[in-house]
Amino acid sequence: DKRHFRHFMLKEIHEQPETAELWVARHLPPDLSSDEPVALPLDHSFYADLERIQILACGTSRHAALVGAYLLEQFAGIPTSVFYASEFRYAPPPLAPHTLTIGVTQSGETADTLAALTMDAQRRQAHGEPAFAPRQLGVTNRPESSLTRQVPYILDIGAGIEVGVAATKTFLGQLLAFYGLALAFAARRRQRSLSEIASLKDELRALPDQLRSLVELHDQRCEVLANRFADTQDVIFLGRGINYPIALEGALKLKEISYIHAEGYPAGEMKHGPIALLDARVPVVSIAMPGVVFEKVLSNAQEAKARDAKLIGVAPECPDTALFDALLPVPEVSEWISPLLTLVPIQLLSYHIAAHRGLDVDQPRNLAKSVTVE
Ligand code: F6R
Repeated sequence: DKRHFRHFMLKEIHEQPETAELWVARHLPPDLSSDEPVALPLDHSFYADLERIQILACGTSRHAALVGAYLLEQFAGIPTSVFYASEFRYAPPPLAPHTLTIGVTQSGETADTLAALTMDAQRRQAHGEPAFAPRQLGVTNRPESSLTRQVPYILDIGAGIEVGVAATKTFLGQLLAFYGLALAFAARRRQRSLSEIASLKDELRALPDQLRSLVELHDQRCEVLANRFADTQDVIFLGRGINYPIALEGALKLKEISYIHAEGYPAGEMKHGPIALLDARVPVVSIAMPGVVFEKVLSNAQEAKARDAKLIGVAPECPDTALFDALLPVPEVSEWISPLLTLVPIQLLSYHIAAHRGLDVDQPRNLAKSVTVE
């Protein structure tokens, strides 16, 4: 049931405050004991001796994994690599001890991801790890899926059924799963002070309300903006650091539902080639959130502007962001939390451009909700 929404995708974007609310209620309950950073269904043996993490995923789930890797490395201090499941399967890195493998799949049925996890488990077994419990964790929205029969540990993102083929609320749910893991690991490894951990938790608790106002605001703003950009042929999305994966996700969402060519780039990489594409016909969406790379992203946006590109900023409203031709404002929050907010305008911009073009947003051509062939 779409309720009053025109498409399931729009409904599911609007459900994201609830996804966050549910996550907070489950994982940061008010009665959480003070020495427990986050409530997760993982026992002591899950955490023991861990030295590195590898994450296997496809599509949007891989983008969530990239934000996850940033958090696991930069917040929790664990070396982490992300692989396309379809690439890992035929070219895995040399096996290393004390490694956790995380498979991220919303549907729990993606053939590439399941096959990569099977291969990983078999290799570990051949190297003496116990066959009954390979060191693997699955992050999924479908705890009844094939994934669950395959890996010993599961984090259920609990986002509820997602009908639109383009992943939205499940992307948020996957991101949140990584925030939970990063909190747990950072605390166990004493990588972060108690106050750093407490402040990330406070921001996560404030997330549902923040998402509620952002979704309302950007639903309107993006609809207006979409009229201006609906005939565009190419769009570039730029981001850096923790928001680089959101640029990738913006480009993927736009191409899959609107059939407009889009590319996501780390903003600093523009000058090494893609900048040659830019002119007045190519809008550039720049995600510029305060933090370690803020000034850098703004100067990368300035370079694009100098080539006459139309600049759309996903950024806070402040004098520094006056260079944007159009601003999709996001409140100034800590950099750690910012991808959970910047994802909203990125999704709604793609949605409204596709809807404006009269396309079948929920059932884009050539795509299926779960890809069960390799
Ligand atoms: C994009 C999208 C796909 C999936 C990918 C993996 O909107 O939905 O890119 O993210 O096919 O699917 P799961 O997460 O089910 O493994």
